[in-house]
Formats: sequence, C-alpha cells, structure tokens
Amino acid sequence: MGEGETLEAEISVRGLTKAFGTQTVLEDITCDIPKGKITLMLGPSGTGKSVFLKHVMGLLRPDRGEIWIDGKNLPALPSRELYKIRRRMGVLFQDGALFGSLSIYDNIAFPLREHTRKSESEIRSIVNEKLDMVGLGGAEKKLPGEISGGMRKRAGLARGLVLDPEIVMFDEPDSGLDPVRTAFLNELILDLNRQLEATFIVVTHLVQFDTKEAMFNSDLPVVRQFLAGSTKGPIGMSEEADQTKPVSTSGMSYEETEELERVAGAPEGNGHAEGNGHAEAFGLKRGA
Ligand SMILES: Nc1ncnc2c1ncn2[C@@H]1O[C@H](COP(=O)(O)OP(=O)(O)OP(=O)(O)O)[C@@H](O)[C@H]1O
Ligand SMILES: [Mg+2]
Repeated sequence: MGEGETLEAEISVRGLTKAFGTQTVLEDITCDIPKGKITLMLGPSGTGKSVFLKHVMGLLRPDRGEIWIDGKNLPALPSRELYKIRRRMGVLFQDGALFGSLSIYDNIAFPLREHTRKSESEIRSIVNEKLDMVGLGGAEKKLPGEISGGMRKRAGLARGLVLDPEIVMFDEPDSGLDPVRTAFLNELILDLNRQLEATFIVVTHLVQFDTKEAMFNSDLPVVRQFLAGSTKGPIGMSEEADQTKPVSTSGMSYEETEELERVAGAPEGNGHAEGNGHAEAFGLKRGA
C-alpha cells in the first residue's frame, strides 16, 4: 500500500468478543477489511480464525461488538436482512464441503438452484464459466471422490463464486494440500482477486508456530514481510517480487491444471500426501 493511500473498508469490525462457555475465543477484535483487496489472517490452530469468519458470515452471534457491512451492523439485523447480506458472500470452507454423492457440476450448480430462479441453460453457462475460472474445465461429470484434494478445493471455490459474491472468504485454502498444489491455488487466488472486483479474506496457518511470540520473533522472510506490512519481499505483491511463482491456472481445463501440478512435482493421488515436490522453486518450503 502506498503511503497516504486510504482504503475504503468493506467490513468494519468493532470490539468483537465471543466466548464459548468459559473459553473466550475472540476478545475485543477491532479491524477494517479493505474493499477489493486480499486480507490475510494468520494464526495457529484453535485461535478462532474460523469463528471470526462465521461471525462475518452472520452464522455466529457475538457476545459483544459490531460487524458493519454496507452500513449495516450484522448482529443487529433481523434474519431476513442477514440472509440478503449473506447471499453476497462466497466461502471456500476448510474441507471444500462438497456433497460427496453429487457431481462437481451439481455441487457448483447447487447455490444457483437453491437461491435463484435461473433456468438450467443459464445455470449451465454460469457453472461452466466458474469451472474454467478455477482451472477445472471439463471436470463437471466427476464425483468429489474421483479428483485430487486440490481439485476439490477448486470445485468448492467455484461453488463459492457462482452468485458473484462481493466478499469471498477462504478458510485455510492450504489445509491438507501438498506445497505444490498450495502454490498453484495461492496463485489462482491472487489472479481471481485481480479478475473479480471482490474483497477477499484468506485465513491460514501459513507456517506453524506454537505461540504468538514464536511468530513475532520468527526470522522467516515471509513472516517478517507480513508483519511489517511491506510490499517488498517473498510475498508477491509487486510484479518484480517473485519471478519463481507458478503461473495462474485460471482458464485451464482440469487436465491441464493437473499436468502442470504434476510437472511441478505435486504428488500423485488425492493430493493429501506431504510430498515436497519442487515447492522450493516457489519459495514455499514447509517448516523451513
Ligand atoms: N460452536 C462452538 N462451540 C464451542 N466451542 C467452539 C465452537 N466453535 C469453535 N469453538 C472453539 O473455539 C476455538 C477456536 O476455534 P476455531 O475453529 O475458530 O479455530 P481456528 O483458528 O479456525 O483453528 P484451525 O486452524 O484448526 O481451523 C477452539 O477452541 C474451538 O474448540
Ligand atoms: Mg479453522
């Protein structure tokens, strides 16, 4: 972000506090999520990232605090109004959350059939457009169990995009994925943010730290850059930042995407293996 540049907030969170029983999970969280940008939220497992997203989606009600979107405070809205705002959000859930017995096509068509009165031919053209967008063209007849973990995430993402959301949330897009598929998925996220005029929130472990202190004291360049909010460093925010990053798979067929990932060293099979592949080439070596 250039100095003096002011960003319009898409979401304003004020004093958000939530406890489950005696366990306070979110305490007095105040932040603005800028419109049209990608906001990254980092934290070890169990620190409340998914709980935070569920508040932004209006699926959980805070004990205290406000969540402002489009001049409306979510916790104060009646459910009909909340529903309207929620329709403008797309979510890629942690596990993709696909229906195992439905084809990829029917999974992606689901929100359109559920929430709109579009004809099947309109639905077909939207589903195909989103499939292409996420690098999954031609995979519509497959079942979730027949494609790799990376492809399932892409399908979940395509489903999250069919209602043309203004806000897209990614809950740990990297979870359960090998580093190569993670790198391609990350590149796709960057590309989609440029293509769509939507606000993205990405939640991730990124690198595993046992404590907050360990993260703040880390020497990892990517973490230093993140904490400093700098555009210079391994996180590719400027054109020259990262020459080794993978190409975007947006617009590719699923066969082309799979081939590209395989050539880059993604492990065979469902993509859950912890193979190292050529992830180092992308500067994404795990646990380094
Ligand atoms: N509905 C709920 N009822 C009770 N406790 C909950 C509920 N949802 C979450 N929690 C607790 O809140 C804490 C934060 O959970 P959350 O799922 O937000 O963590 P997270 O940061 O997303 O972790 P991960 O990286 O593993 O997904 C956990 O201790 C969890 O057990
Ligand atoms: Mg979570």
